[in-house]
Amino acid sequence: MTEISTPSNITNEELIKFVTESAELCKPDSVYWCDGSQEEYDRLCQEMVDAGTFIKLNAKKRPNSFLARSHPSDVARVEDRTYICSIAKGDAGPTNNWMAPSEMKAILKEKFDGCMAGRTMYVVPFCMGPIGSPISQFGVEITDSPYVAVNMRTMTRMGQRALDALGHGEFTKCLHSVGMPLAEGQADVAWPCSPDPKDKYIVHFPEENSIVSYGSGYGGNALLGKKCLALRIASNLGRAQGWLAEHMLIVGVESPDGKKDYVCAAFPSACGKTNFAMLIPPKAFQEEGWKITTVGDDIAWIKPDEKGKLRAINPEYGFFGVAPGTNYSTNPNAMESIKENTIFTNVALTDDGDVWWEGMDGEPPAHAIDWQGNDWTPSSDAKAAHPNARFTAPITQCPVVDENFDSPAGVPVSAFIFGGRRNSVVPLIQQSFNWAFGVYMAATMGSEMTAAAFGNIGEVRRDPFAMLPFCGYHMGDYFGHWLNFGRQIPDPPRIFSVNWFLKGEDGKFLWPGYGDNMRVLKWVIERSRGVSKGSETPLGWMPRYDDIDWRGLDFSRKQWDEVMNLDRDMWLKEIAMHDDLFFKLYDRLPKEMTYIRELLVSNLWRSPELGLAPSRPEAEPEQLKAAGKGE
Ligand code: OXD
Ligand code: MN
Repeated sequence: MTEISTPSNITNEELIKFVTESAELCKPDSVYWCDGSQEEYDRLCQEMVDAGTFIKLNAKKRPNSFLARSHPSDVARVEDRTYICSIAKGDAGPTNNWMAPSEMKAILKEKFDGCMAGRTMYVVPFCMGPIGSPISQFGVEITDSPYVAVNMRTMTRMGQRALDALGHGEFTKCLHSVGMPLAEGQADVAWPCSPDPKDKYIVHFPEENSIVSYGSGYGGNALLGKKCLALRIASNLGRAQGWLAEHMLIVGVESPDGKKDYVCAAFPSACGKTNFAMLIPPKAFQEEGWKITTVGDDIAWIKPDEKGKLRAINPEYGFFGVAPGTNYSTNPNAMESIKENTIFTNVALTDDGDVWWEGMDGEPPAHAIDWQGNDWTPSSDAKAAHPNARFTAPITQCPVVDENFDSPAGVPVSAFIFGGRRNSVVPLIQQSFNWAFGVYMAATMGSEMTAAAFGNIGEVRRDPFAMLPFCGYHMGDYFGHWLNFGRQIPDPPRIFSVNWFLKGEDGKFLWPGYGDNMRVLKWVIERSRGVSKGSETPLGWMPRYDDIDWRGLDFSRKQWDEVMNLDRDMWLKEIAMHDDLFFKLYDRLPKEMTYIRELLVSNLWRSPELGLAPSRPEAEPEQLKAAGKGE
């Protein structure tokens, strides 16, 4: 039987029980408690270099950085293998996979029995959020992957300091295995995992505050603090305790007068959240003194303080960003953040021991080793980096990290922004009339399908609040939680919707995006401060051309009209399509959603200036006269 020597300073009985029971079930060769020190990190990385999991990069070009290549079957989150095992099926709702906890536990018990044979079991204590923050939560991940242990050190406050702060408190139990036990004498592979796509399980037990993950070593499947704890479990905790766990970046915006506001913004995966979180304002804005600072790029936890003001923390401590497409023009701050102390996964290796990916600055290298370990040249058909290749880097390396990113009190929230990825229909920017309209807008946001894998190209995939894969309970209840939450705060932040992805008939983007999004952000901030103007439309408040600061950008009134166009016919169709989502969630859909839908339809109907005269057939003037209705 595995020797489990609990360090003498650990007296949290739940923790000792969790580790003991896990070791008894998983039967690892040994148990190792992570302290989170630099010495430990360096040692585990070296052990992975020796085992062939890590390649150490050129120390001059990329100091203290490593490359890992995953198994080709293990390259992304597996939503179809992700389960919310609440006691009642109805609590998970129709947007989550569900299985009865007892049934799932029986499967997992068999999977985990002996699953760590031949391996070390790492005990990884971590804190999501600044240590000492009333908004933070603790977790302990038990894993047989040293890759997970070192990534968790970058992504969370991990090790002894988390243990000390945890004391005898509560924590989320996170049990993870790559699902590849080693028989006596069996050699390991560089990236152990369970290669059968059906043999992976990412399971949440919300009532028990626990997560069990089997078969994958990649990203959100394995780094359980991120999507599993900080969104799926935390969304349940937040609902029960009166706070919000959201798929949102947090950005600070300082105006030339030194006033600073913080904005939380939700975008579906792969819509440039990391870029927006570290945006570089246009030159004229910079010269005038506008500054952007980063609190977080993916997740926000938001709680009212004693005065009812919303405060947000980033529960994470690092960036797990998508590498392809990142370069010095799309995101110089990200490039600076990954100059050293970074773990790269599934990018290409250059001949001089550095990394490369599609969309990096400069010419592609004449030769590289691709993410699968094969020779690659610019004429190769295969991609050099996997499209979901990642970097794991400490947030402290971000040149524009906000001074309050680690503040236990969090940062005050002035506005929420919700952005989908729509080629048409949804305008560049609008402000909802009030909190409930904002909830409606966020509930109905979506993305046009770009990959056939998700459905028919051109169809809209609704992604309410960008939380579709991350809400750990019934989405209808989630809308209800947002509505109630807004009612209980005295001065709720304003809610805005943006769409950077509008396309013209030629298929080209109509809005330049990136740093120019600052122009929209400035309007948002000034609107929240009550200083900038806008005009009322059937859907909400919108800036006019002259309400936007255009210094340094040649963008005509005609172009503006295109990105701000509200087409009544298209909007009536759009709103009709919202019913697909609403009917799916019908049993728990708050009534406000239906009423707001009606209000929007009647607002649109009464707005012939949007280019549509009422399409009812005109009556004969004679008949009208006879009915006493004509002149
Ligand atoms: C992410 C995602 O990796 O949203 O952040 O998929
Ligand atoms: Mn994300």
